[in-house]
Amino acid sequence: MNDLKVSASIMCGNPMKFGWELDKLEKAGADLIHFDMMDGHYVENIAMGIYMLEQMKKRTSIPFDVHLAMFHPEKHIEKIASILDENDCIHVHPESTVHIHRVLRDIKRMGVKAGVAINPATNEDCLEYLIDDIDMVLAMTVSPGFAGQKFIKQTLGKIENIRKMADDRNPDLMIAVDGNINAETIPGCVKAGADVLVAGTSSIFKGDDADYKELIQKMKDSV
Ligand code: DX5
Ligand code: ZN
Repeated sequence: MNDLKVSASIMCGNPMKFGWELDKLEKAGADLIHFDMMDGHYVENIAMGIYMLEQMKKRTSIPFDVHLAMFHPEKHIEKIASILDENDCIHVHPESTVHIHRVLRDIKRMGVKAGVAINPATNEDCLEYLIDDIDMVLAMTVSPGFAGQKFIKQTLGKIENIRKMADDRNPDLMIAVDGNINAETIPGCVKAGADVLVAGTSSIFKGDDADYKELIQKMKDSV
């Protein structure tokens, strides 16, 4: 089991002050920056682009956890990977591309960690031929696209099953949970086997005066 990490979902930050947000998160000890890239087709929302990622990567030393909620991610991974390094991870949804195994292999070949993002209704069987070769699973606990949604508790059984698969075949696999993650939902997620907590509006992004250090610690203490 890996140490518990908090991955701050920067799309939930103040868009007029993203640089300030990153500095504040770095001082607060955020372990990862969760960077949502959304194309408005795979999910209804359109979120941050490659240029924004490039500028953010220059601004902070915190590793990035890039969530590609988009169709045809294969068209963009080379450019995205060129901005990232071996500490960063790129997550792809199996439903978003025809050849998921090839996309994940290419991400690894480009020197970046590879992750599989799994929607609430997607079965963990999709990992059967992938789990040995990936670094992280992003278990969506809401349907991707928007902050402020309600936790889908049926995902807990899936997280348990993924952790069991990982214990047998890839013990270092990190399992992130993404969506309505807070003091109420964290205990069940960690008990099921999650070790990366995506922090959004439910936990740390509570306005410019929020004390991120205190709120991140509160997440970790809620286990
Ligand atoms: C959802 C996003 C996350 C997260 C937001 O697609 O990936 O940023 O849900 O956090 P919450 O759910 O706490 O507002
Ligand atoms: Zn996300």
